[in-house]
Amino acid sequence: MCGIVGYIGSRNTTEIIIKGLQRLEYRGYDSAGISVFDGENLSLVKCKGKVKELKNLLNSSPVNGNIGMGHTRWATHGEPNDANAHPHMSSSGLFTLIHNGIIENYYSIRKFLTGKGIEFVSDTDTEVLVQFIEYLYLKNNLSFAEAVRSALQKVVGAYGIVVLCKDEPDKLIAARHGSPLVLGIGEGEYFLASDTSPIIEYTRKIVYLDENEMTIIKSDSYEVRNIEEYKVISKEIQNIDYDLEQIEKGGYEHFMLKEIYEQPTSVYESTRGRIDLKKMTVKLGGIENWLTRILDANQIVITACGTSWHAAQIGSYIIEELVNITVKVEYASEFRYRETPIDNNTVVFAISQSGETADTLAAIRKARTMGALSVGIVNVVGSSIARETDCGVYIHAGPEIGVASTKAFTSQVTVLTEIALLLAQKKKLNCKMVKDIIRDFSTITEKIEKVFKQADKIKNIAKDFATSNNFLYLGRGYQFPVALEGALKLKEISYIHAEGYPAAEMKHGPIALIDENMPVLFIVTQRGFDKIMSNIQEVNARGGRIIIITSVDTKRCDEYSDHVIKIPAIHHCISPILTTIPTQLLAYYIAVERGCNVDQPRNLAKSVTVE
Ligand code: M6R
Repeated sequence: MCGIVGYIGSRNTTEIIIKGLQRLEYRGYDSAGISVFDGENLSLVKCKGKVKELKNLLNSSPVNGNIGMGHTRWATHGEPNDANAHPHMSSSGLFTLIHNGIIENYYSIRKFLTGKGIEFVSDTDTEVLVQFIEYLYLKNNLSFAEAVRSALQKVVGAYGIVVLCKDEPDKLIAARHGSPLVLGIGEGEYFLASDTSPIIEYTRKIVYLDENEMTIIKSDSYEVRNIEEYKVISKEIQNIDYDLEQIEKGGYEHFMLKEIYEQPTSVYESTRGRIDLKKMTVKLGGIENWLTRILDANQIVITACGTSWHAAQIGSYIIEELVNITVKVEYASEFRYRETPIDNNTVVFAISQSGETADTLAAIRKARTMGALSVGIVNVVGSSIARETDCGVYIHAGPEIGVASTKAFTSQVTVLTEIALLLAQKKKLNCKMVKDIIRDFSTITEKIEKVFKQADKIKNIAKDFATSNNFLYLGRGYQFPVALEGALKLKEISYIHAEGYPAAEMKHGPIALIDENMPVLFIVTQRGFDKIMSNIQEVNARGGRIIIITSVDTKRCDEYSDHVIKIPAIHHCISPILTTIPTQLLAYYIAVERGCNVDQPRNLAKSVTVE
């Protein structure tokens, strides 16, 4: 959720931290702050608002030094204001600390410290941690590292932290338990961040901190130890696998729009080297060694959150249709606490763009302890879910910065389809359908480009509906999860209330909402065409305003609707990849029309690393 940056070296520390925070702002943007050791003291500058507000503040009161850290916040404990912004400083000014996560036992520690006369200036759980470190440091005469470790052994909850100490100003200490941290290794300089985006400009060499590890960094060395035993751990140095330009806007007004238009490439990347169009086969190296276990499974469970959960729904349809295995789709936040039969005949797929979603991570941990095989379907290489699953398939969509997930969704659906195709081929099931889908995959890039030809039309439709207060999205079969996803996209970036429903379910309740003020968006393909036409007529008869996204070449859609968005037809199993795109564009243009901050919608964060 929150963004963390740390730096030690000889460059302009403040500049590096601010640039890094701007790259991480998609993780949270309630408030921002920086702490630098200026040669004498730990200076602290922080404020409510975005990184640009912090930048303005730093222009009027600059801070400089060779070691420092910065934070951009997504509030958990305490409203977004100046006092609650990170970094937090201990009472005697000996320590500053930034934190991503939640300290669950903060209340009892705060009470204990208050009893010792320590005064708090914020409402945050983070301030409790920094005060606790200082308390232990002074009381037990500990070193910087000992004090941090000692405090961490007593706190319960999740954290990714970076700490500075005025008495040992040559060191940055960072630790991870539940919130990701990456160390970037430069020449005579080191970087810390909650993901690799602030680091890539300076070095491609990185080390991922694992759970319960801390690192002690000086300008010429670093070591990683486990918090519990304090043993030195030898870590593998890895390489960042994307380029700087992939995380820049490249001339687009918003990351979301750029990412929508990247879909011909991102979907292709998800198939590259996997679907062999000549041999009509599918190969997925990441799960090859586990195929027998997957093929022998009694059930497949797919767990995810948000948009990834919608992709999971589509995946369950394809796998059940092609492979004839029972597939259950579970919200990770429910699955992790629910009593449900899981054993070593179960395969649990975890879908996550970021690979860091706390609930999804917890869900696969639970599945593994119950004996299930865990398979990650993840975008971010090296992320927690990618590393903690037994095996997996990267979606290779490239970095997704816009908070509203777009290209990750279509790539997730692509990878789930590949898994279904591979399993069906191995089981020798539905051979003709498998070939038809593979053949249609070869046309997908050009068909996505054709969908983009509707962009101007969609922009005009958006003008008509920008003042609506509600929206209903309806679809049948494979288009039902698309309806859910379209509605989610609209509500998260335009703040218009929107619901997705199976079209036939409308009669069981939502139909009561239909009047001349209720826009209803239908997603119509050849499958179930006549059935959904009946639903369209039901809305039409009640005066609802109708938009239809359709791949069916017919005048019947024009007859009963206000607007028709025509897109190419493709095999029904992969049709969601095409039908989703107009819903993404519609949400985008409505949000722009309403003057919303598309890439940083209110209250949201890209990666939800807390429960
Ligand atoms: O990184 P993940 O795929 O695990 O994230 C899951 C959801 O938080 C995410 O899809 C969220 O719903 C997006 N804001 C949707 O656009």
